[in-house]
Amino acid sequence: MGEGHLPVLVDEVLSSLALGPGSSAVDCTVGGGGHAERLLEASSPDGRLLGIDADQAAVAEAHRFLDRFGDRVVLRHANFAQLHETARDAGFIDVDAVLFDLGLSSYQLADSARGFGFAADAPPDMRFDEDRGVSALDLIDGSSERELAGILATFGEERRAGRIAKAILAARAEGRLMTATDLAGVVAAAVPQPRADIGRIHPATRTFQALRIAVNRELDVLGVGLEGALATLRPGGRLAVISYHSGEDRIVKRFIARESRDCIEQPLPPACTCGHRAQLRPVTKRVVKPSPGEIHRNRRARSARLRVAEKLAPASA
Ligand SMILES: C[S@@+](CC[C@H](N)C(=O)[O-])C[C@H]1O[C@@H](n2cnc3c(N)ncnc32)[C@H](O)[C@@H]1O
Repeated sequence: MGEGHLPVLVDEVLSSLALGPGSSAVDCTVGGGGHAERLLEASSPDGRLLGIDADQAAVAEAHRFLDRFGDRVVLRHANFAQLHETARDAGFIDVDAVLFDLGLSSYQLADSARGFGFAADAPPDMRFDEDRGVSALDLIDGSSERELAGILATFGEERRAGRIAKAILAARAEGRLMTATDLAGVVAAAVPQPRADIGRIHPATRTFQALRIAVNRELDVLGVGLEGALATLRPGGRLAVISYHSGEDRIVKRFIARESRDCIEQPLPPACTCGHRAQLRPVTKRVVKPSPGEIHRNRRARSARLRVAEKLAPASA
């Protein structure tokens, strides 16, 4: 793995995906290639991997890092909302494993020009795909105080969303908010930090997370990506998802629960009329969390949550 990004829960992912020689896998968030490298090693000598990333710079980094695997690796610049089409067009049909490692990488955080981090002396852009959508600064400029507060509350679970939104828009109007560092400073000045958070997280953590999730429509595309994964897996193939935010984990948990049930009507009728049939079986009964040792080695792992499910064979009519 290139310096700077340590793959999270990598042993747990490898043991649950159970790849072997000849296996095929799709890494929907290839990033710098950390998980991809380990998946390719696990499927040696001839397993194949499709790596997808919405960030062109991540695809370039993965190209460099995974070069030694030659034509066992195919990389595509794409959003995993287009997972099924992208995989099909690249010849990855009925694959053995699909992995999502959500959120942003240490490379993106460290690239100050992208404005993901508190110390970035550049406008807060925060788009994974710089060719599409609106930047975080444009989102702020196009939002009313109420809309901005809604974004911070919904995607950041920020309890002081109203005060923060007001302070951000005032600073923007007064020309005091041009960079990500300015944004972090405006938030820190607007709200006293809860005692439990002092020295643990920066006061602007939830604001930055909320803006990034909104800019990239992360929760919307996750649902679409999970559907794409189901369509791309072979029966018996496995889906693994690492999330870093309760909103993401809730979507994954509900998706696996829903797709593991034969009837999804509520309340359950005496006889099913919806026709829905289970397509998944949960492999991890409970969410898998990193060990204290991993959190000690890699602080980014502290909020990681892994869920794994296996695709079922279609029920015979
Ligand atoms: C946590 S990093 C992945 C790191 C990777 N597993 C590794 O070990 O190097 C998440 C990556 O997912 C990408 N990403 C996030 N949302 C995406 C989406 N909807 N479609 C494609 N890539 C996405 C980001 O650009 C980022 O590179």
